[in-house]
Amino acid sequence: MKALVGTDFNFPGQQSVYHGKVRDVYNINNNLLVMVATDRISAFDVVLSEGIPYKGQMLNQIASKFLDATADICPNWKLATPDPMVTVGLRCEGFPVEMIVRGYLCGSAWRAYKSGVRRICGIPLPDGMNENQRFPEPIITPTTKAAQGRHDEDISKEEILRQGLVSEADYALLEKYTMQLFLRGSEIAAGRGLILVDTKYEFGRRDGVVYLIDEIHTPDSSRYFYTEGYDERFRQGEPQRQLSKEFVREWLMANGFQGQAGQTIPEMTPGIVESISERYAELFEHITGEPFIKGDTTHLLSRIEENTTQYLIRNK
Ligand SMILES: Nc1ncnc2c1ncn2[C@@H]1O[C@H](COP(=O)(O)OP(=O)(O)O)[C@@H](O)[C@H]1O
Ligand SMILES: [Mg+2]
Repeated sequence: MKALVGTDFNFPGQQSVYHGKVRDVYNINNNLLVMVATDRISAFDVVLSEGIPYKGQMLNQIASKFLDATADICPNWKLATPDPMVTVGLRCEGFPVEMIVRGYLCGSAWRAYKSGVRRICGIPLPDGMNENQRFPEPIITPTTKAAQGRHDEDISKEEILRQGLVSEADYALLEKYTMQLFLRGSEIAAGRGLILVDTKYEFGRRDGVVYLIDEIHTPDSSRYFYTEGYDERFRQGEPQRQLSKEFVREWLMANGFQGQAGQTIPEMTPGIVESISERYAELFEHITGEPFIKGDTTHLLSRIEENTTQYLIRNK
């Protein structure tokens, strides 16, 4: 098993490239984006030392499927997936916020709540909630989209509007889309015996139109629980069976790393890497309802380069 942790292509029409934490994003003629989902893995906003074989393919294929399954709700950036690890789509001007929507109290929100916090992103939370408890209604807890190397930070709707990060009219649309997408994602998940616990959306604008951009409903941007046994485990105060990156965060925390300055990332043994890859495959199969078919990785870089170049030439 070999992981793809970096790419350095030169596609026809290429203007620039942005190496994100996970994706390598190629700007084609200031018009299209070629987004290569690599096997890099990030947690607490840092990229871990080892790649996870097939993670990029899984992420790209999950996102691609759900972009298609939500295209009736709002326009999205996807045009095609010319390679299992690549999506090509419309380049948009991203809004500088991430729309996080939560149906349940967990993850960082639970960690804050447990420490006594009762207001998250301006939203008051009642006393007496337990970990993984369902909110009466999903809540939106946005973050700023921080510059490279900085942590995203919680922000309230009021502050987003006050700072003019997003206009009032645009924000109302982002909220509406976020709730509708989350509802659709939850319905699809329910059909597969899963609960979509929380997720993150990014939006952008192009020619005056607001588009959904980036990945959606992937294990990197979302958290899922198994429906079966949720109630029982909740009553017993037991941890939920979850399909998300949270197990990576938990492994890191158990080994003394919480993304804070001065802490070192624990060593990732081949066993850890393999178990993370297996967890991702498990999620892929659950959430898509399809078997995961590994792409041919013998000439991975040239495969990606050829598939993508051919697409760009054919669709010039
Ligand atoms: N259609 C799009 N137009 C412009 N930017 C996009 C689009 N889709 C995704 N992006 C951006 O591409 C990047 C994807 O790479 P990622 O690895 O997630 O990077 P990051 O470390 O910035 O989160 C993100 O910064 C995301 O905002
Ligand atoms: Mg990202």
